[in-house]
Order: sequence, then structure tokens, then C-alpha cells
Amino acid sequence: MTQVKEILARVDRLPAMPAVVQQILALLQDPNFSFSQLLETVRLDPGITAHVINMCNSPYYGLRQKVSSLQQALLLMGSQQLMEIILSGKMVGHFKKGQTGYRLARGELWQHCMATALLAQTLGERLKYPDQPTLFTAALMHDVGKLVLSEYVAQEFKQIEQMVAMGQSFADAERQVLGLDHAILGGAVARKWNFPENIVAAIAFHHNPGGAAAEYRPLTNLVALANLMCISLGVGAGAEGLAAAVYPQLLKEVGLRTRDLDILMLELKDILDHAADLLALAS
Ligand SMILES: [Fe+2]
Ligand SMILES: [Fe+2]
Repeated sequence: MTQVKEILARVDRLPAMPAVVQQILALLQDPNFSFSQLLETVRLDPGITAHVINMCNSPYYGLRQKVSSLQQALLLMGSQQLMEIILSGKMVGHFKKGQTGYRLARGELWQHCMATALLAQTLGERLKYPDQPTLFTAALMHDVGKLVLSEYVAQEFKQIEQMVAMGQSFADAERQVLGLDHAILGGAVARKWNFPENIVAAIAFHHNPGGAAAEYRPLTNLVALANLMCISLGVGAGAEGLAAAVYPQLLKEVGLRTRDLDILMLELKDILDHAADLLALAS
């Protein structure tokens, strides 16, 4: 079996995405979805219910009232924050381990993904992106391919590192040495987990947004930009941080000026604190 086939076979053997997350994602795709429907779905999962109540009652959110049900959580927290808590709680188990191939310590990948999701959300609000739940989910999952590829990168790290030192991007080096990169592989994972096609595309092309089909470009661009901003500040970037820059073409396509970016970078500090707090709470 070639190495690419072996890696893809790994994806096939991954455990299924919990059904409840699939249902949540499907609901979020429906422009007419109501949060009462979401609660109906989530209510059936005692783990999520416990997680939401636990998070809402933590001092971090500083609610005056104790939360004892999902309905109350929705009223007090609002839909956006509730979705953030539900999805991050369900995903944290997958992402928490260290990824040695990427020189990421335990928790770092999760923090990077959470920071990217929160930043993408900020960008989306600023640019009036119409589908925030999808943007948040795509950004949260963008590096899911690293979960599978880490050990293969670890085996070939010297060679990849040399190529990066010579000016290649990390994803290009992965592709040349291993036959595929973590973005393409992440797309395969997302497809296996029945994610909608727009999220699959945003994950698969987050290092090469120009390669995404035109209809998925705006989503992919925002995920790519949020990721680059996090990497350029060294947020959970690990080895990948060696080779990233926010490039002007991407800024132009999403409709931001360098000045806007500078301001957003300042806000990033708060976003990062929020990501670290969510990680600490969810762990
Ligand atoms: Fe990436
Ligand atoms: Fe990333």
C-alpha cells in the first residue's frame, strides 16, 4: 500500500462524528432553523446538557442567576454563545492531545482552532458574512487533518523542516514529502463525517483559498485569513508558524485594508484570552 493510501485508510477507520454533532451541523445549515429545534436535538445528549450547564455556571461567564436547564441557558447566553459552548465542548476531546509532528503540546491545537474560530467570527461580523454558524464550525475544524497526519509528519520532520527553511510553506512541504497535506486530508475527514460541502471546501483549501470553487470562496477566505492571523502571532502554530504570512491578495478579496488588520490584531489578544478560558473550562 502506498503511503497516501495508508493515510487515507486511517481516515476511514476514524470513529464516526457523534450523531448529535452531525444533527446540530445539519440544523445550522438550514436558514430557517430555530433554536428550539436545536435544543430538542441537544436535549437528548446528557453529556452536552451537563457540559452547557457546567460552563454557564462557571465564574467565567459571571451570570447572576444559576442555570439549570438548556432553555434557561439559551435565554441568558444567547444563541451564538450557546453554539460556541456546545460545539467546542464536543470537539475538545478530539483535539486536546498533543501533536508531536507539528511540535504542538497538549491543548495547543485546540487553542489554535478555537482562537481561529473566534477570530473568524469577529471577521464575519465585521464583514457581515451571512452564515456565522457555518463560519464558526469551518474555522473550528480547519486543522482536523493534523489529528491524522501528525505521526507521519513526525517521521519525516527533518525533510519537511529543511524545505520550510528554504522558503516552502509547511503545507507544500507536507504535500511533496507525504503526498498530501493536512488541509486536503482534513477535507477527507470532514467528508467522512458528513459535513456539508462548503465546510469540506473551507477545510481542504484553508492554505490555498484560491483553489476552492467560487461559491465556497468567501467562507474559505475568511477561514484562511483567521488561520494566518493566528499563526503569524504564533498562536498554537507549532512548526507551521515558521512559514506563514498574511498575504495582500487575500485581504483584498475579503475587503479589508492592512490598517483594519492591525486593529483586529489588537483585538486578537482578548480573543486569545477567551479561547484559553474556554479550553480551561472545557478540560
Ligand atoms: Fe492548517
Ligand atoms: Fe491552522
